[in-house]
Amino acid sequence: MKTNISQEEREKLLSAQQGEMDGVETYLTLAKVVQNKTDAETFKKLAADEGRHAAVFRKYTGETLKPRRGQAIAASLAYRILGKKLAYPIIAHFEYSAIEGYRKMMKDYPELESVKQDEKRHGDTLKALAKNGEDNDVALWPFILGAIAVLRLFRRR
Ligand SMILES: [Fe+2]
Repeated sequence: MKTNISQEEREKLLSAQQGEMDGVETYLTLAKVVQNKTDAETFKKLAADEGRHAAVFRKYTGETLKPRRGQAIAASLAYRILGKKLAYPIIAHFEYSAIEGYRKMMKDYPELESVKQDEKRHGDTLKALAKNGEDNDVALWPFILGAIAVLRLFRRR
């Protein structure tokens, strides 16, 4: 296990650890918010994966971090407003975007190979869930657009 960790590298590890903790919070929140049972069960598993990822970084940083709520709130708002068909691919995009950073760190931290593979799998899972037929959630965007259209009609008078 790598022990000679520079300050700069430590910052990187801490920020990755924070990102994983935020991921735990995000998936646990989504599991509560989504109406589809399959999606909710899946998100609980993804949250557990993110927890394991955070533990990989904690081994090196020696710090216990608390999750921040911002990303979880943004993800549940995206779900409520856009519906899963639009929101899940956006979340998948964030999973995929973590891959490159982890790939670069793999030379020093070989455990990140499996973490990186998990993020890819998470992205693929989200995309698959977005496409599955059980779309029993109600997106708010048609109502929001409808309300705006009505308000504009009234304004014209
Ligand atoms: Fe992760």
